[in-house]
Amino acid sequence: MEDRVQALDFALINEYFVEMERQGPGSSESTIKALSFIGNLSNESKIADLGCGTGCQTMVLAKNIKGTITALDLFPGSIEKLNATASKMGLQDRVKGIVGSMDNLPFQSDEFDLIWSEGAIANIGFEKGLNHWKGFLKKGGFFAVTYELWFTDERPAEIEKWWLGAVPEMNTIGHNISIMQKAGYIPVASFTLPENCWIDNYFIPQKARQEEFLKKYAENKTVEDMIAFMRREADLYSKYKQYYGYVFYIGQKI
Ligand SMILES: C[S@@+](CC[C@H](N)C(=O)[O-])C[C@H]1O[C@@H](n2cnc3c(N)ncnc32)[C@H](O)[C@@H]1O
Repeated sequence: MEDRVQALDFALINEYFVEMERQGPGSSESTIKALSFIGNLSNESKIADLGCGTGCQTMVLAKNIKGTITALDLFPGSIEKLNATASKMGLQDRVKGIVGSMDNLPFQSDEFDLIWSEGAIANIGFEKGLNHWKGFLKKGGFFAVTYELWFTDERPAEIEKWWLGAVPEMNTIGHNISIMQKAGYIPVASFTLPENCWIDNYFIPQKARQEEFLKKYAENKTVEDMIAFMRREADLYSKYKQYYGYVFYIGQKI
């Protein structure tokens, strides 16, 4: 999210999102569906969840697979919340949140059986991310990421301009799969996130937060701009959702 609002205040953006259940489009059902393509996880398996936010998908992973999960995010407030949630759910022995950057991972070569990342790889770039993360995956290990894409070869200028400002490398599914292949992964599966991942789980829950924020920061121009930006993102989705979305890509390191 903050990649799309670089001009706005990083601390405010994080304060806004830290209270949301999700910080990007997605759903538990999609996380579980993506997991269904990944085999062979055991109690000894090691999983990384990069750009984890407050850990909505991390907890879904922990409840549905074996192994230990290291969840990493740039924002300390999200990691604090993730670790508190893990403790509340009794998952603290298997889930650990750490602060760090996904383009400079503090892990060992070939450490992981699975690298997960929902709604976050665009922050460092799809190609760069897949190449960098591959070094931390065991041979035969999997990655699963969601990433923005165009559904069509052409789209209206208004939406193209909006997204290319935020995700300059945004492209179509064929291009993204060819990047996976070039990076040395078998393309195992890919599927488009349904609309409810955006509308019910991302835009609608933000409405109350936006009112709350405008009240808390009355007459703060930065906050007003930020909320206007969030609302425009939702309006543009309603208008142009046939042109773009998120795809879950699952690949296996060769
Ligand atoms: C759209 S949110 C997705 C969060 C969560 N995975 C979800 O789907 O709810 C993107 C996340 O990436 C994190 N992020 C951005 N740049 C990052 C970086 N370089 N390293 C680690 N995390 C980063 C942000 O702090 C934010 O939590």
